[in-house]
Amino acid sequence: MWTIVAALSAYNRGIGLKGRLPWRIPMELRLFRQETWGGVLIVGRRTWESLARPLPGRELWVLSRQRLGPQAGVRFFPGEQALLQALEKETRPVFFAGGEQLYRWALSLPQVQELRLSWVYTPAEADTFFPAFSEAEWQVYATEFFDACSPYPSFVRAFYKRIP
Ligand SMILES: NC(=O)c1ccc[n+]([C@@H]2O[C@H](COP(=O)([O-])OP(=O)(O)OC[C@H]3O[C@@H](n4cnc5c(N)ncnc54)[C@H](OP(=O)(O)O)[C@@H]3O)[C@@H](O)[C@H]2O)c1
Repeated sequence: MWTIVAALSAYNRGIGLKGRLPWRIPMELRLFRQETWGGVLIVGRRTWESLARPLPGRELWVLSRQRLGPQAGVRFFPGEQALLQALEKETRPVFFAGGEQLYRWALSLPQVQELRLSWVYTPAEADTFFPAFSEAEWQVYATEFFDACSPYPSFVRAFYKRIP
């Protein structure tokens, strides 16, 4: 199963600011860790730079036209085709995990059948955004509300399936 996973501001769809997340919400990070554990995480080079280290329990695949690596726990791909070819042989769950450029490409892939979005209730300043997507193509099949726990904002996890 190929899934897009993102946290975005419910006010402006912001996802990042100056190479980082616009917020720090420990509960949301915990859910991300739990749900992606054992899978392959695909990120763009800028997101890789903000992580700056492999993530435990998951293999990180990084898309970049630059020559990067090698690094234990991380695979680098120079382009979309090389990455898609490697994915054909992949049996672990696959998560497209940002940033904006990576999400734009992932949303166009028919193999991506699920979105897991955390809508964060804070008007965060942002310079990168989750792309607008068509509600005619995606249907919400589950939601879960996480109440604000001071000083962290509330968020809603929404799970979407691609409408065939
Ligand atoms: N809120 C969230 O859930 C979330 C999740 C992840 C990231 N973020 C945030 O998103 C922001 C980064 O997003 P971004 O859009 O600026 O960058 P990004 O998508 O992380 O990375 C963009 C880079 O990926 C590489 N790339 C993208 N498409 C490619 C292709 N077709 N072929 C080869 N390489 C390709 C390029 O690297 P080269 O320039 O090296 O070629 C490009 O500059 C950060 O602030 C980060 O914290 C937020």
